[in-house]
Formats: sequence, structure tokens, C-alpha cells
Amino acid sequence: MSSVSRSAPIAPSRSDIRAWFPTLATDFAFLENAGGSQVPGVVADAIRDYMLSRYVQLGAGYRQSIEASGVVADAHAYVETLVNATGIGKVVLGQSTTSLLHVLADAYMDTWQAGDEVIIAETNHEANAGPWVKLAKRGIVLRTWKVNPETFGCPLEALAELLNDRTKIVAFPHVSNLLGEVVDVKAITELVHRAGARVVADGVAYAPHRAIDVADWGVDWYVYSTYKVYGPHMAALYGRHDAFAGLTGPNHFFIPKESIPYKFELGSISHEGCAGILALRSYLRFLAGWEVDDRQTVVDAFAIMEELEAPMRTRLIQYLRSKPKVRLIGLADEGTKSVGTISFLHNDLPSTQIVASVDRHNIGIRYGHMYAVRLCEALGIDLAEGVVRVSMVHYNTPDEIDRLIGVLDTFL
Ligand SMILES: Cc1ncc(COP(=O)(O)O)c(C=O)c1O
Repeated sequence: MSSVSRSAPIAPSRSDIRAWFPTLATDFAFLENAGGSQVPGVVADAIRDYMLSRYVQLGAGYRQSIEASGVVADAHAYVETLVNATGIGKVVLGQSTTSLLHVLADAYMDTWQAGDEVIIAETNHEANAGPWVKLAKRGIVLRTWKVNPETFGCPLEALAELLNDRTKIVAFPHVSNLLGEVVDVKAITELVHRAGARVVADGVAYAPHRAIDVADWGVDWYVYSTYKVYGPHMAALYGRHDAFAGLTGPNHFFIPKESIPYKFELGSISHEGCAGILALRSYLRFLAGWEVDDRQTVVDAFAIMEELEAPMRTRLIQYLRSKPKVRLIGLADEGTKSVGTISFLHNDLPSTQIVASVDRHNIGIRYGHMYAVRLCEALGIDLAEGVVRVSMVHYNTPDEIDRLIGVLDTFL
């Protein structure tokens, strides 16, 4: 089936969607999805099946090893389809976004001189700050792309002023896991490229909601955590071919520099996790209503996720806006400029108390700094209390949002 000839997909019913996720069968409302999503049963089954049928080392000649090697290779190829990297770059799989970004920063350090510069957005989760900050000890100059506490954005003009001919990397989140706003990754990338530097975009908080499109955005590096995108506890780092070309990955000395992604994967990655990632194919096919595992299916499946999420996002934002003592932290756009990750503070009630009251009602949300410590400090948010964060994805229901609002409304 050709991708161009397909018509717009129609969303399956919520109950059909939820039937894919065994953990959603109870009345517990998972509204802490920015911390980690639930998985379709097929993902868990695939991991089990892999471990019970081909749990052997890769690269040998016997049947199980050939199959295992195929699973790992196919998972890499599928993530390339997921992020739209086919033909333009490669995907490294690893334990977590944090660990992949440390690998990347260390690889860059081997090519840099003291005095070279890195720009870090203040909105970053620590995963895309710490790996660069540690390079300051080795003479790298760090510059902070400051957040505007009124708009919660990092303005492009401010970035333009920070860029110079020593800038090597600009590290920023596509979406902050606390603020929920989608930044214009393409515009940032174009600006950074004009200055001769590269971008490292953290897509962790974006990836569960919309289709990643590294080809369209032109990014050099893009990373996300698969455990927040209905998959196993792993992460994926996309790099453009030319970005990889200047670097040597840290894997063993005898593994050739050209052996990408393996040169960047320290030892063995989770092979059973790869089986889990591959099993997502059937879930996305179901959502999109297509029978092929191509890019169009990915695009359509995520379009359906957004269609289901958007009204719930609007409902909660409108409710919170109606409460005079509530201050939304982040743009909290009712349209498409935000994802369903919504943070707020209350003038009188501490975040800890609000969340403890919600916990009692079989609803999972959380409070805290969300590992965006530099951002909280810049916004003057108490680190122990942090914000109250509600994070929804497509498998949540309007009823769950109404239940949460009902509980919040007894004390907000
Ligand atoms: C925006 C963002 N970046 C990075 C991370 C870190 O991901 P990992 O646990 O895979 O290191 C998180 C985790 O919550 C996150 O929300």
C-alpha cells in the first residue's frame, strides 16, 4: 500500500485502546505518564517470549543467535522509522537518555579544545545539562540560555546573542518535562546551524505525544526514552550521519569507528528490550488502522494519540485557569503548542499536600522539581515542594480527568 494514497485514519474507541494495556484494567488513573508510560500487553509478551526462546549472545551461527541478532537489528531499524531517520542517520540504543547523553558528551570532549563552548537551555531536564556541565572541569565554557520567567520560554533572540564561533553544541529540550511547551525545534536548529554549531535536542517529553521527525527538523542529535513511549526501559539517540562522522564512540578499541551504532553502545544493550520495542509495531498498526509498519503508520498512529489527548488537555487547563489561586507553570496552551504535561502551584497549599490528597483517590500524579532543578531555581520554585504535575497521554480518559478535577475541586 502506498503511503500517499491512504486516507485519514479513524481513532479506535477508547475501550479498544485500553484493552491493549493490561494495567489499565483497574480503576487506578495513571496521570503520571511523563514519569513513564504503561505498555501494551504485546510489549511485555514479546520480552518474555524473547527471553524464553532466543536469549543467547548475538553474532554466532546457530539458529537462536541468528534470530536474536535479527531482533536487535530490526529494533534499530524500527526506531529509525519511528523518528524518520531512514537514510539520513542512525539510532544508538542504550540504557537511558541520561547515559546516552553522557556517552555523547564524552565523545565530543575528545574532539574539543579548552575554550570551546556549549550552550545549555535552562529548561533542560538534568539529563541534557549535567553531561555538558561536567565538561567545564576540562576547560569547556558553558553558557546558559536563560528562561524568561514570565513566558516560561527561552527566547530565540537570547540564543542568537550567545552563539559565537567557539560554540560547538546547543543542548535544549524539545518539550520541558515540567513546562509542557513544544519549542520550535526547526527554527532553533536553523539558527544554531547558521552559527556553525550542532543541536542536541532532548525529545523525551515530546515523544509520547507526537511523531518525531528528525528529517523535517534537521537536528543533529535527538534523544528519547523508550519507557515513556509505551515500551521497555531503554532509550534511543538519533545522530545524523555527518554528526557521527566526527566522533569516536566509546565501545572497545577493536570495534571499528565506522561500526555505528555499535561503537556507541557500551557492551550489550538490552536485547529483550529490543524485542519489546519491536512489538510496538502491532500497537501502532492497530491505532493507525494500517497493516504495514512504515512511516505513514507511525505518523497516523501519533496523530490519533494527539486527537485523543487534546480535549483532555484543554479540559484540565480550563479548569485550572478557572481557579484564582492556581498558577499554571508553563504556557499550558490549549492548542497544539503544549503536550498533556501540566504543572501548577497553589498560592496557599503546598504541592506535597495537594498530591497527598489526590493519592488517596486512586489517582497517580506527582509533585517535585522533576529533575529540572536549574529551571526550578530560575523560576524561584522551592525545590522540596516543586510543582504539582499532571501528565496525560492518549490512553487516559475524559472520565479520569473529570475524577481528578472532582478531587482537586474539594480543596483548590
Ligand atoms: C525531558 C526529560 N529528559 C530526560 C529524562 C531522563 O530520561 P532517562 O531516565 O531515560 O535518563 C527525562 C526523565 O524523566 C525527561 O523527562
